[in-house]
Amino acid sequence: MKKITIIGAGSVGTAAAFYLAEKRVANILMIDIEKGRAKGKALDLMEAAPIRSYDVHVDGSDEFRDMEGSDVIVVAAGVVRKPEMMRLDLLEKNIEVVDGIITQIRKYAPKAFLVVLTEPVDTLVYYFIKKGGFNRRKVMGVSGVLDSTRLRQFIAEEMDVSSVDTTAIVLGGHHDYMVILPRYARVEGIPITELLPPDKVERLVGRTRKAGTEIVQALKTGSACNALGAAVSEIVEAVIRDVRRIVCGPVYLNGEYGQKDICLGVPVMLGKNGVEKVIELDLTLSERESLDKSAAVVRNTVQSLGLEKSKEEG
Ligand code: 2OP
Repeated sequence: MKKITIIGAGSVGTAAAFYLAEKRVANILMIDIEKGRAKGKALDLMEAAPIRSYDVHVDGSDEFRDMEGSDVIVVAAGVVRKPEMMRLDLLEKNIEVVDGIITQIRKYAPKAFLVVLTEPVDTLVYYFIKKGGFNRRKVMGVSGVLDSTRLRQFIAEEMDVSSVDTTAIVLGGHHDYMVILPRYARVEGIPITELLPPDKVERLVGRTRKAGTEIVQALKTGSACNALGAAVSEIVEAVIRDVRRIVCGPVYLNGEYGQKDICLGVPVMLGKNGVEKVIELDLTLSERESLDKSAAVVRNTVQSLGLEKSKEEG
């Protein structure tokens, strides 16, 4: 059976383990440097198995060497936002965390497909590729699935319809300048621009931009975890089962959408090889300008890392 490792047994990593177990995707190993934390969470999850009929096993460890042979690794370690913080404020601390994780993954599972949740996610996907040297098509962030799923839910609530019939695409960086395209937000294939007046569409777009902050401000001592865990389960299932899903998320771009040497949320097709294909939409001029603006925010953060440009990036 395939093997998934989740690094970080906090609320996000535990939610990811829960949704992956519920989907019976593969055996799951949770790793956390805090002694006993991953073990305790895994025991708790597995003790639901008789009721939930899990035929996969969830285990916990505080030893990175146990991730050897993982097919997919979910990076859910690091600090999360508190009220009044921006995701970019987490960079300094989370770079330290990610540096340690890069060393361990390179040592024990260098060929695994990496799903990055640690914030700021676009920049850290780039960091895994540039600093970690991981294959560009084997690293993806969770944010595109998270943001598009949030918009889907908000549309369903607004229209009092099943969220199963909604679809949405969110491009760009996972920040206030994420690019939300109403013409690609649909209910059973019908654009919401044909179903809702412009002011309601704008309200849904605005709420999606701030959805993460809405949760942080409500919780005061934490941030989102369940929607992230569910989003992870979609991405990981698509890779492990090679189901060739098309989802949104930050991946490395080398010219697509006019963006070179950056990681941004775009539609991609996922399969056993990881990011099988980047899907290029025919954006209008104003949509393209919004994407450039969104990319500029990510570029500024990446430049602050001072990573050497490799030759082919120019
Ligand atoms: C969010 O948007 C945690 O950044 C994540 O909720």
